Amino acid sequence: MCGIAGCTGGLSAGAVVIASLKRLEYRGYDSAGITLGGSPLRTVKISGKVCSLERSLGPDDCLATWAIAHTRWATCGAPTAENAHPHLSGDGRISVVHNGIIENFAELREELTGSGHVFLSETDSEVIPHLIEEYYDGDPLRSTASALRRLSGAFGVAAVFERHPETIICASVGSPVVIGLDDGRTFVASDVQALAPYTRRVIRLKDGEIARLTPCGAEIFSLADLRPIRPEISDLPVETSVADKGGFEHFMLKEIMEQPECCSNALKGRLDFDRGTAVLPGLGLSPRELARVSRILIAGCGSSIHAGLAGAYCIEGLAGIPVSVEQASEFRYRNPVLEPETLVIALSQSGETADTVAAVREARSKGAWVTAVCNVEASTIAREADSVIPLRAGPELSVAATKTFTSQLVVLYLLALLAGRNRRLPFETASRLLREAEELPCLIREVLDEAPAIKALAEKYVRAEDMFYIGRGNLYPVALEGALKLKEISYVHAEGYHAAELKHGPIALLDELVPVVALVNPEDEGEKVCGNIRECLARKAPVIAVVAGKDMPDALPVRDIIRVPACSRFLLPAVAAVALQLFAYFFARSRGCSVDQPRNLAKSVTVE
Ligand code: F6R
Repeated sequence: MCGIAGCTGGLSAGAVVIASLKRLEYRGYDSAGITLGGSPLRTVKISGKVCSLERSLGPDDCLATWAIAHTRWATCGAPTAENAHPHLSGDGRISVVHNGIIENFAELREELTGSGHVFLSETDSEVIPHLIEEYYDGDPLRSTASALRRLSGAFGVAAVFERHPETIICASVGSPVVIGLDDGRTFVASDVQALAPYTRRVIRLKDGEIARLTPCGAEIFSLADLRPIRPEISDLPVETSVADKGGFEHFMLKEIMEQPECCSNALKGRLDFDRGTAVLPGLGLSPRELARVSRILIAGCGSSIHAGLAGAYCIEGLAGIPVSVEQASEFRYRNPVLEPETLVIALSQSGETADTVAAVREARSKGAWVTAVCNVEASTIAREADSVIPLRAGPELSVAATKTFTSQLVVLYLLALLAGRNRRLPFETASRLLREAEELPCLIREVLDEAPAIKALAEKYVRAEDMFYIGRGNLYPVALEGALKLKEISYVHAEGYHAAELKHGPIALLDELVPVVALVNPEDEGEKVCGNIRECLARKAPVIAVVAGKDMPDALPVRDIIRVPACSRFLLPAVAAVALQLFAYFFARSRGCSVDQPRNLAKSVTVE
């Protein structure tokens, strides 16, 4: 959730880490800070975004030859300059940036305070430089390792020492750290996005590794005993360098517009027309093993849960396998029952969401087969799961999930098809479903063509302060997702409800100031949703109907209609979701909100 950037070597490490930080800012952006190498170390911290940090630096700062920096999403302590990283040792000669959480920080702080250390922030992170100072014996690697062994929790860390110019020590325990190699320069970051402009050669630190970086390269050691480890150097895939807005005003709009291509990518090579089935080698189960699966459990958070709920309709509808969808945050605390025949699917765009990581570990410890459906193949969840089905959506930089949501829907649809064919789904039905899947990019393109009309509607309702989203069947999860999109980027209260549930309480909130967005599939409980719309209209609530196909199933006095193409009921969630993403985007933009970096949020939530 926070971002770490560091560089040693070259004549502009200061400028490099600021540029890297900007590429990480989508992960956390409450406050930021930098330590520039020199004697003494110079540390600048601000509350706010990286551009404010950049403005606080002088021209000479950018010329420093070693630097570490951080952009923060506040967990422990408010987003103030004092709580921003880097944090310093008591003598100011050691500076540390930290991602993650230190669970035993209170006792360490008490211990350190007892031996005379004075703390200047409310953060858990500040114990790290003080602990390193306590262990400092002239060797930065050894003293950092000794300090880090005292921590419990998850952390990615980078530290610099005034007495060891151009050396950065970094380590990873349950929080990603990646090192970049270039001639005469070495980089560190919490995400490869930060390194893409500078190098393609990277080393991903494994859990429990610590590294010493100098301009000449990186040496890797085991954190437990400082045993040297041979680094595995890999090449960055080309797409990680694509981090510009491509002419769009916001990443969110760019990512919404990319969805036809993302769906094509998610489908590519996965449709087998000859055998009338989907091909998902990433699942890692033989046809016989898949046939033995008696239950599927999908775990995830936020938008991923909504995709899971829609996916459950597909899997149950096409394969007849019972599916439960679990909030990953609850999963491990309720001692879930997992039989050996349960397939667990961990749905996560980032692959770093702490609750979903914990669910993966819990499920594996109980012997279940865990398949990650993930956009980041080098992520913790992808690494720890038994198998991985990649989303192939490309980097998603806007905080609000859009293209990864629809890609998740596509992958779950394919999984449903595969599992269905493995059971009793007839060849003819599956062949039709495959052909329909091929149409999805075009269907989404048709929705994108409606952007001007959706924008006009969003602007019409821009003064609303409360909204409801309702749907039935597999459009109910889309209602949840539409409401989540609206609230997270526009700060307007929005709730997603099953259309039939509205009258069991929430209808009390409806009046002429509370618009209701109703999702209608005339082919699937259309009449029933119309009944629910009538209930809203009777309470004077303005209704915006998102309708599949040309006609409303019933003559209703609803004038604000977003038409999306009629299609297979199993694909409609992906099509309808795009319309709601556009609505939320234009609504938030009209309200002047920070669309890509909404307040209080972060792209990947790496704390419980
Ligand atoms: C909403 C959103 C979040 C994420 C959630 C899970 O737009 O982005 O709700 O969906 O934090 O994230 P992943 O999928 O990365 O595990």
